[in-house]
Amino acid sequence: MTSLLESRFSRASSGAFQPERVLRTARLVSGLVLFTFVTMHLVNLSLNLISIRTADAGLEWLMEPWQTVPGTILLYGAAAIHVVLVLRTLYLKRTLKMPAREAAQILLGLLIPLLIAEHVIGVRVYGSMTGTVIDYEFVVRALWIDTPLVGVKQVAALLVIWAHGCLGLHFWLRYRDWYPAAAPYLLIGAVLVPVFGLLGFADAGKVVEGLAPAVRPAGLTIDRIREALATKDILLNTAYLITLVSVALTLLLRSLRQKRERRNQIEVRYESGEIVRVPMGSSVLEASRAGGIPHYSICGGRGRCSTCRVRVIAGEESLPAPGAIEAATLARIHASPDVRLACQLRPVGDVTVLPLLAAVHERTVPSGIRAATPGREREIAVLFCDIRGFTALADHRLPYDIVFLLNRYFAIVGRAVEQSGGRLDKFIGDGAMALFGLETSAPEACRQALNASAAILADLERLSGELAGEIPSPLKVAIGIHSGPAIVGAMGYGGVMNVTAIGDTVNIASRLESVAKEFNAAIVVSDKAVDLSGLDLSGFDTIEISIRGSARPLHVRVVPQDAMFQNGFPTVRSETAA
Ligand code: FES
Repeated sequence: MTSLLESRFSRASSGAFQPERVLRTARLVSGLVLFTFVTMHLVNLSLNLISIRTADAGLEWLMEPWQTVPGTILLYGAAAIHVVLVLRTLYLKRTLKMPAREAAQILLGLLIPLLIAEHVIGVRVYGSMTGTVIDYEFVVRALWIDTPLVGVKQVAALLVIWAHGCLGLHFWLRYRDWYPAAAPYLLIGAVLVPVFGLLGFADAGKVVEGLAPAVRPAGLTIDRIREALATKDILLNTAYLITLVSVALTLLLRSLRQKRERRNQIEVRYESGEIVRVPMGSSVLEASRAGGIPHYSICGGRGRCSTCRVRVIAGEESLPAPGAIEAATLARIHASPDVRLACQLRPVGDVTVLPLLAAVHERTVPSGIRAATPGREREIAVLFCDIRGFTALADHRLPYDIVFLLNRYFAIVGRAVEQSGGRLDKFIGDGAMALFGLETSAPEACRQALNASAAILADLERLSGELAGEIPSPLKVAIGIHSGPAIVGAMGYGGVMNVTAIGDTVNIASRLESVAKEFNAAIVVSDKAVDLSGLDLSGFDTIEISIRGSARPLHVRVVPQDAMFQNGFPTVRSETAA
C-alpha cells in the first residue's frame, strides 16, 4: 500500500502539466503586480509631504511606466486575471460558509474594480481626449476640491486594495521560516506606507486649495470637455456593468451547477456519527463547513498546512488519487496511506472520515477560558532529555532528597535551553522536552539544540562532582534531537494552556532519546538535524534506526558519554581526540 501511495506521489509530482498549480501561480503573480502598482502609487502620494513638485517628479519613475503599452498590458492584464480567478474561486465553492478572513479576501477582491474604475478611467480618458497634462495638481484638485466624494471613494479603494494585498501576502508567506521574525517590521511597513500616502494626499489637497485654478489649455472647448466626461461616464458605467454582470453570472452558474449536483449527492460520514450530504464534487472540508462540523483549516484550504487532514475509515474506493499539491503535502508529513487532506479530497462516493486534528465546538468551551489554537506548521528542532537510572537513584532516598535532586536537574536543563535560545516545553517525570526554532530558522534551531545539550552535559558533570559523596555514581542523561515540521500552538484547557508542538518530529525526537538510552549514549541526533546545523559531527558513529510508521530507516549520529565539547558543541569522542 505504501509503495502504491509513493508511486502516486511521484506520479503526481512529476513534470506533468498541473492546471491548479498554474492557476495558483497566475493568481499570485497577478496579485504581486497589483500590489507593486499600489505600493508605488502610495509612495508617490507620500512624496507630496515634501512638495507637489517632488510628487510630480516621482510620477516619471513611479507611475509613468504603468502608462506605457507594456505597463498598461501588465497592469490591466493582472487586474483582469486576478478578478477572473476570484470569480472562479467563488464559482467553485460548494458552500458560501467560510471563515471570515476567506470571505473578506473574496469580497475585497471583487470590490477593487468597482472602487478604482472611476479614477483610472477618468484620468486616462480625460487626459487623452482633452490633451490635459494630468499632474498631481490636476488630480488633487479634482479629488480634493471638485469631487470630494470621488476622493473619499479613492481613499477607500486604496485602503481596500492595500488590505487585500497585505492579507494575500500574509497567507502566502506565513509558513516561511523567516516570516515570524520579519512580521513585526512588515506590519510597521503595512501601516506606514498607506498612512504616509494619505497624509501626502491631504497635504497636497491643502496646498492646491490655496492655488488659483489652472488655466484651460488653449483650444480646449467646453464641448470637448463635456464629450470627454460623457465618454468617461459611458466607459465607467460599462465597467460597473461588466463587474456586476460577471459576479451575478458567476453566482447564477454556481447555483445552476449546484442544482445539477444536488441530484447527485454523496454522504460524508464522520466517526463521531454526524452525516453531511453534499453534492458530488464537494471537498470533505466543504462538507464539514456545510454541516457545521468544526474542522481545522489553517491555510484556508490551499493544501499547504495539513491541519485539515482526515483518516479515511471507509469508502476508499470513492477516493480520487491525490493531486500534485495534496501529494506533496502528504509526503512532507509522511502521512500514512489512509490519510488525506480534507480540503483537497473530493470523493466520488460515500466516505467515512475521522478528522485527525479535532477542532472543538466553540460552545463546548466555557466562556472566559482562552481557547486552544490549532497552531501552525513550523520547522523546529525538538530535544528530549531524560536522567539515566533515576529509579535506582531514587531508591532508599527520602522524597525531600529526590525533590532537591530533581530541582537541581530541572534548573540545569531549563537554564541550558533558555540560554541557547530555546523554549522549555514541559517536564515529564524526570524527563524534559524543549523546542527550538519558534522564533528562528531551522538551521539555527538545530545549533541551539546541540548547544543546549552540551551545556546540560557539562553542568550535570559539575553537579555530579558537587554531589560526589551523596550519589552512588555520576548523573547521566540521554538526549534525543530531531528537526522537522511540527504543529506549534497553544494547546491545553482552561488554566493549563501552553504553547507546545505535536507531530512526527516530536515523536521521533522522543524515540531518539530512547535510542540514546539503548546505546548508552549521551546524545542521539538525527542526520537531518546535524546537516541543518552545519556542524561537523562526522567523528561520531552513524547508525540506522527504524521509525514506527515509516518504511525508511532514519540515519542518526551517536554522541557517546565520553565525547569532547568545543565552543559549546560536541566535537569528537575523547579517545579520538587523544
Ligand atoms: S486546510 Fe490547509 S491543507 Fe487543508
